[in-house]
Amino acid sequence: MKISVIGCGYLGAVHAACMASLGHDVIGVDIDADKVAVLNRGDVPFFEPGLEQILQQSLASGRLRFAVAPATDELVDVDVHFVTVGTPQSATSGAADLSFVNSAFDMIEAAVKSSTKKPVVVGKSTVPVGTAHALAKRIAPLGLTLVWNPEFLRESFAVEDTLRPDRLVYGLSDDPAHAVHGQSVLDEIYASMLAAGIPRLVMNYPTAELVKVAANSFLATKISFINAMAELCEATGGDVVELAHALGHDVRIGNRFLSAGVGFGGGCLPKDIRAFVSRAEELGVEDAVGFLREVDEINQRRRDRVVDLSFAALGGAVAGKKITVLGAAFKPNSDDIRDSPALDVALRLHEHGAQVTVTDPEALGAVEKRLPQLRTQVETMAALKGADLVLLLTEWDEYKNLDPAVVRGIVAHPKIIDGRNVLDAQAWKAAGWGYRGLGRH
Ligand code: UDX
Repeated sequence: MKISVIGCGYLGAVHAACMASLGHDVIGVDIDADKVAVLNRGDVPFFEPGLEQILQQSLASGRLRFAVAPATDELVDVDVHFVTVGTPQSATSGAADLSFVNSAFDMIEAAVKSSTKKPVVVGKSTVPVGTAHALAKRIAPLGLTLVWNPEFLRESFAVEDTLRPDRLVYGLSDDPAHAVHGQSVLDEIYASMLAAGIPRLVMNYPTAELVKVAANSFLATKISFINAMAELCEATGGDVVELAHALGHDVRIGNRFLSAGVGFGGGCLPKDIRAFVSRAEELGVEDAVGFLREVDEINQRRRDRVVDLSFAALGGAVAGKKITVLGAAFKPNSDDIRDSPALDVALRLHEHGAQVTVTDPEALGAVEKRLPQLRTQVETMAALKGADLVLLLTEWDEYKNLDPAVVRGIVAHPKIIDGRNVLDAQAWKAAGWGYRGLGRH
């Protein structure tokens, strides 16, 4: 099939390369000319394990190329348009900003008007519930079918999650003709995945939109739940790591997404729960998801807690003190710093006058671009040299495997706050460190 993928960020670049690897003929479109040039060269503009290989193979096969939007001529002959643009948080409220989605549909309309084809449009962006219905109405006069097909990919596992997802969700039109057509076209695109046994779940538009935001809300709630328990542990002398381990043995609860620490960040969970609350308000059902405000607040309080613990570890004042922050990305194996808890804490300590040095194996380029006021050092040992306090805030393997005895010989004062509860507390204490975890005694 001839496919377009409109928006080549974390989602779209991976989707385009993976669809070409399935044998489709793919054109990826983006407004960022630099990004298009980089992708056409076979380079990945962000850190995503496994993507470079599949991108280069797909480019070499001749089935994948990228063009600068609007690229109307390139879009004319397409059978299926995937919309994979971002829906960031609006600058003025918690709502999602749909301007990129709307311009993607503008591009599709322009291409369709100069074509004899009637392509199927497949929305993958995370949108407020009700958006698909409105977009379907918008393109109905052109005779186009819309399917809402949310993605659930995790950064750092994006290729795996795209080619072997837990499930494929199809949100279909209430109009039977559009529903049958949309389903059969998506079935053809995903034929090899369906043949491999990946479950396909068919539903209406609002349900499909809700699956995505409900999944992310559930994950955020699970993390904030255990972080709330960390607050209880701190007040009572409990240990949240042992608590989570014991809870996880109940298979109804499970131990995944039950790691307490500095909390969640990234380009999805924080903005998706805020957009959900905002949409629920518009719908007059804000009480139904009011708890998500609490989830957000618990999450923010963990960042405050690390700042408070830093002050306490340094005798009540951080000004002039050397603080080394291990990790800048919102999670390991990523260079994404959007809403990174690590950088939020680093920035706040910097604003209190601390001499903060941030290190990260992959994300420092992004830090230097967006937060030039922060000092960076790519070499871990150089970053640790002379530190009065160390904060581990993103759990890269390299930091988990640090030898406390070796690091002790480098820092000025052996004090560490383990913001992800990943270090062996006993080993660090035995090596002479003042160790603090979050929610641990
Ligand atoms: C998330 C969803 O997992 C994915 O399904 C959706 O498509 C997009 O949003 P992602 O943003 O890549 O994916 O990150 P994820 O792995 O979910 O982690 C989110 C944040 O939660 C990270 O900051 C991580 O450090 C934090 N986290 C995760 C915890 O603090 N504790 C945990 O137990 C798990």
